[in-house]
Amino acid sequence: MPRASRPFHITHCALRGSSPAARRQEFRLRLWNQSTESFRNMTGEPCNITLIGFMGSGKSTVGRALAGRRDWRFVDTDEVISRTAGRDIPTLFAEEGEAKFRDRETQIVLGVCAGQRQVIATGGGAILRPENVAALRGAGVVIWLTARPDVVVARTRHRAQERPLLAAGMADPLAHVLQMLGERGPLYQAAAHLIVDTSDRSLQAIVREIERKTTPGKDARCSSGTTT
Ligand code: S3P
Repeated sequence: MPRASRPFHITHCALRGSSPAARRQEFRLRLWNQSTESFRNMTGEPCNITLIGFMGSGKSTVGRALAGRRDWRFVDTDEVISRTAGRDIPTLFAEEGEAKFRDRETQIVLGVCAGQRQVIATGGGAILRPENVAALRGAGVVIWLTARPDVVVARTRHRAQERPLLAAGMADPLAHVLQMLGERGPLYQAAAHLIVDTSDRSLQAIVREIERKTTPGKDARCSSGTTT
């Protein structure tokens, strides 16, 4: 079967250990497998991969590479927001405020979720709205790309002005990132089917890990407690 038309489903998710957290995770994965399966049955098509995560976690870079490898469409929701609004993100924040930006983001996310065979890179705050999370989870597999706080700071340092919510914490970027991660961490965790760390790793290694974890017949693996 050609790569792009393979059914998209974790069929071999081995759980290590049997702690309550591992059992909860197993239950979540079963539910996810069932919902993904019913999505495929409904449409006869494989679905999407969505990358969520904090600013600087590598969503756009990894997403573009993953889409190329799968021969899927790549959608960066921030790019779509900027294109449709005719203004870049800092200008939108400055002129309309964050709430209006979130409205635009939700509109784009819900629209994109109607498509298939897409790798979707979301903005770091897309998980703030439950309707975004529900739509993305219903449209495919959601992967949380993580990165250590110091890695986030190093990756975003030179272009912090492009991210209004980072620009606000320029005086102490690490403390700012730690605070935001503390607030958002549980939301990323709850939204994600899988977690992939991007710190100190090559793009190829990250893409390979995602492929391994999302391709039937490969040894998709989850550690106890949380999906990794
Ligand atoms: C945001 C992240 C940005 C962009 C906007 C808000 C956030 O996207 O959507 O500046 O709230 O974390 P990236 O995560 O692609 O930088």
